[in-house]
Amino acid sequence: MIRERIERLRRELNYHNHKYYVENAPEISDYDFDMMLRELQDLEAAHPEFADPNSPTKRIGSDITTEFKTVAHRFPMLSLGNTYSLDELHEFIARTEKEVGETEFVCELKFDGTAISLTYENGALTRAVTRGDGTYGDDVTENIRTIRAIPLVLQGKDYPPLFEIRGEILMPYASFDKLNAEREANGEPLFANPRNAAAGTLKQQSSAVVAKRGLDCTLYQLAGDDLPFMSHWENLSKAKEWGFKVSEHIRICRSVKEIDEYIGYWDEERKHLPFPTDGVVVKVNRYADQRALGFTAKAPRWAVAYKFKAEQALTKLLSVDFQVGRTGAITPVANLEPVFLAGTTVKRATLHNAEQMALLDIRIGDEVYVEKGGEIIPKITGVELAARPADSKPFEYIAICPECGTPLVRYEGEAKHYCPNQSGCRPQILGRIIHFIRRKAMDIDGLGEETVELLFESGLIRNIADLYDLQAVQLSVLPRLGDKSAENIIQSIEASKQVPFRRVLFALGIRFVGETTAKYLAAHFKTLDAVIGASREELTEAEEVGNKIAESIIDYFADEENRKIIGRLRAAGLQFEETGKELRSDVFAGKNFVISGVFSYHSRDELKEIIELHGGKNLAAVSANVDYIVAGKNMGPAKLQKAEKLGIKLISEQELMEMAEGDGARQATTADNDTTTTEKGQRPQQGVLF
Ligand code: IVH
Repeated sequence: MIRERIERLRRELNYHNHKYYVENAPEISDYDFDMMLRELQDLEAAHPEFADPNSPTKRIGSDITTEFKTVAHRFPMLSLGNTYSLDELHEFIARTEKEVGETEFVCELKFDGTAISLTYENGALTRAVTRGDGTYGDDVTENIRTIRAIPLVLQGKDYPPLFEIRGEILMPYASFDKLNAEREANGEPLFANPRNAAAGTLKQQSSAVVAKRGLDCTLYQLAGDDLPFMSHWENLSKAKEWGFKVSEHIRICRSVKEIDEYIGYWDEERKHLPFPTDGVVVKVNRYADQRALGFTAKAPRWAVAYKFKAEQALTKLLSVDFQVGRTGAITPVANLEPVFLAGTTVKRATLHNAEQMALLDIRIGDEVYVEKGGEIIPKITGVELAARPADSKPFEYIAICPECGTPLVRYEGEAKHYCPNQSGCRPQILGRIIHFIRRKAMDIDGLGEETVELLFESGLIRNIADLYDLQAVQLSVLPRLGDKSAENIIQSIEASKQVPFRRVLFALGIRFVGETTAKYLAAHFKTLDAVIGASREELTEAEEVGNKIAESIIDYFADEENRKIIGRLRAAGLQFEETGKELRSDVFAGKNFVISGVFSYHSRDELKEIIELHGGKNLAAVSANVDYIVAGKNMGPAKLQKAEKLGIKLISEQELMEMAEGDGARQATTADNDTTTTEKGQRPQQGVLF
């Protein structure tokens, strides 16, 4: 009875989900949908024996942190050759027809998101993998299950028992704008474009977050041994019947003229699409012809991408603001008459630096060309000189800091101006603290930009060392901060004392010392004292450190204020040395462990450390995510029962050691060999497509 009800609800929810998210033609109200979903959730909670990873309830995601396993693609995910030139595209068509004779092409939009490969077994989604390096990608199945446009179970019966379908995960402009608005309000860094936002979202550790981000997915490629048809077009059409979202804008073209018309149409029309596209993909339709054409090392010879030129808009330059970054670098930012460009309204654009402005001779009141690059802020690429007012005057660049009035300086070889007043200029002070707490630096996640400002305004912090003197009582009295968040902040500050040296070095915010440079410096010098004591020549012995970086490091540690801060950070207990806890192997990579019971030879902490040193992760509680339980004496009966039910493997302390040290080395080499057997070249010939 209950089982039937559960199955019926799942079927109906899947049906309505498809109507809503794929066909855009809902048949029931959101309310009715939610009611059915809630009923299913309740039933599933009461009857875990009927659990199903592809239940529509999985669309909501969960807060359980997932680690992404790296897995090999069954078929490599190749890229596409691309061109901006119609002539080159015509050459591609001519060459293709010369090789295989007159043939059909399928024209599609080139979606600007992030690629995904979905595996379906017996009609159910079993695996979703990102492109990665084309040979290996990340298994992001749990996150993908939350994307409503992706069917978890297929419709009909005539799908192959095992196949892959590939496509693009997209973030529609509406979702992107909403997400960035939220991030801005929370003081979080913005995503540069919908592509980055889509890719970043897929790597989120909590699928519940993914579920809320409004991702979409369009499928454009099938692969498998028993696809029903022998052409791309027919299989894509069939995939639509199975419930996949396939673009309605694909066309069969039989001549250069038809292809040109398709491109001409979409070059303009794409501006009205709700998601980003950056070109057109032209593919040979028949698999027999595709096979005859084959592959180059990186891309199929049966397809090419024609890329659209970046969209430009012409608008008026109203004024120029100057932003001061954490290193004191000055960036001129244009205030523009609002103009619609590639899906969003643009009001501001970067002008880069004084040199660039002079080069383009940009003046207030000019009509300027705006373009979107990869960055968050669009850029100005030129001036419409014909529209320049007769009385316009050359732009005069500022000579003093707009924030603190200090005269600006130029460093040799640097295009930007800098404000040298590091310890007295507000945006620099705040910028340094904000940089310090960043995820990739000290990862003090209880604090955000706004809280840092609040702490600064209330006089509690003036520099990064002050963070380590904060006390919960000082924080809990501040507006918007209660006892709980105050406690969280203190805890994450405390936890940051364990952050490894290379990240501490990056967190200091030394000009030109980015994440990678910090890593090289830490690897070379091992301790902060060695970095401080190094001469310019010695510094340049570290990888990627040239004179410019070396001088910046010397300047930083020569500064009295900085030396005081370093002294206080040292006293607070930050890691100023590489601990040598480098990974010993990755035999446990992607594996989750729970340690339970009492052990004979090692303490629990030692076992945890062993797991981590070999790339594994320790979890606190038994759940379906756990791969092994290291079971000692007196393991609790409840845990044991749960482990049995979930089919989790129990291992002893000795077995763990054997896996880590003994077998570890062997396993690692086997894995290496596997890499060569899944090498490119061998696999592509298999399956229908490749
Ligand atoms: S076909 C073997 N079709 O473009 C080629 N790719 O530059 C398989 N892309 O990684 C790709 N729209 O992420 C294909 N209609 C489309 C596409 C498309 C976007 C992306 C895809 C691929 C990249 C290659």
